[in-house]
Amino acid sequence: MPSFTATLKASKHIIAVAGAGLSAASGEMTIGIPTFRGAGGLWRKYDAMGLATPQAFQANPSRVWQFYHYRREKALAAQPNPGHLALAMFSVPSLRHRMAPNSEFTLITQNVDGLSRRALEQIAATHPELAGEVNSPAVQDSLLEMHGRLFDVVCTSEACRYREHNTNSPICPALAGTENVFTKDEPEPHIDEADLPRCSKCGSLARPGVVWFEEMPWYLDRIDDLVDQADLCIVVGTSSTVYPAAGYAYAVRENGGKTAVFNLNRSEGDQDADFLFLGPAETTLPKALGLQ
Ligand code: APR
Ligand code: ZN
Repeated sequence: MPSFTATLKASKHIIAVAGAGLSAASGEMTIGIPTFRGAGGLWRKYDAMGLATPQAFQANPSRVWQFYHYRREKALAAQPNPGHLALAMFSVPSLRHRMAPNSEFTLITQNVDGLSRRALEQIAATHPELAGEVNSPAVQDSLLEMHGRLFDVVCTSEACRYREHNTNSPICPALAGTENVFTKDEPEPHIDEADLPRCSKCGSLARPGVVWFEEMPWYLDRIDDLVDQADLCIVVGTSSTVYPAAGYAYAVRENGGKTAVFNLNRSEGDQDADFLFLGPAETTLPKALGLQ
């Protein structure tokens, strides 16, 4: 810990790369946001990753919308945990500069649940003296949701592609209650395309505003620059198996930077990390960042 504190103090360009483990505790405290490759990797009888593809949506938009409706309802019921809050506080310069006086910081998250954005909102609400700083473009833009957002909805019509933020619960009447169909004995509800979420501009079928497998993650150019510059990469709650995010710590190390892994268990590549904090990120991260 003292050595990590010294590294923070000396670092100028810090990035954090987060994954599902960062939000795991938010699930436990409420009703469960399972991680992808953990015990909760199945939804109904389907492999969750198999549903996160353009092909799955094309083949069965009703089923894929039910999956995303389920995830939206879980995320809405969840609250940011101390891990989200520590990273959100660390992204506020006046707080971060106590630990890392000359640093910039960017949080790159693979999570689509919106909890890191809500952690920023929570800090602005509970610390009015920080609200101006938290709501500044510099802080808001330092959170990169590279796999998109559960609460965005995008038009599937190529001519339109309208994207909107939508936190309605349920997102449409036909999906109401389908999140409670669990067992394979219960028949899967089928919803006609006309009753699934539609684009509010042109009426075409809408899709969840997340990045699916085979699609391009967001902010890649900016992230490449950040990774090139970084002298410290903090890896939180990710199995480090999905690229490109899985390669960022490796790239930082190749450039001579340091890496710190926060994970409940051992994870891909962690034997090369300069620092390994094994344990729940919601406990280890606030301590290590000096913000609890
Ligand atoms: N604290 C820290 N780490 C934890 C915790 C916790 N409380 N709980 C679980 N973990 C760790 C697990 O040990 C695991 O290494 O979080 C990691 C979760 O890994 P995955 O489920 O593979 O999630 P992630 O790495 O975010 O997946 C990447 O793949 O499925 C796609 O697009 C999806 O963004 C996702 C991407
Ligand atoms: Zn449209």
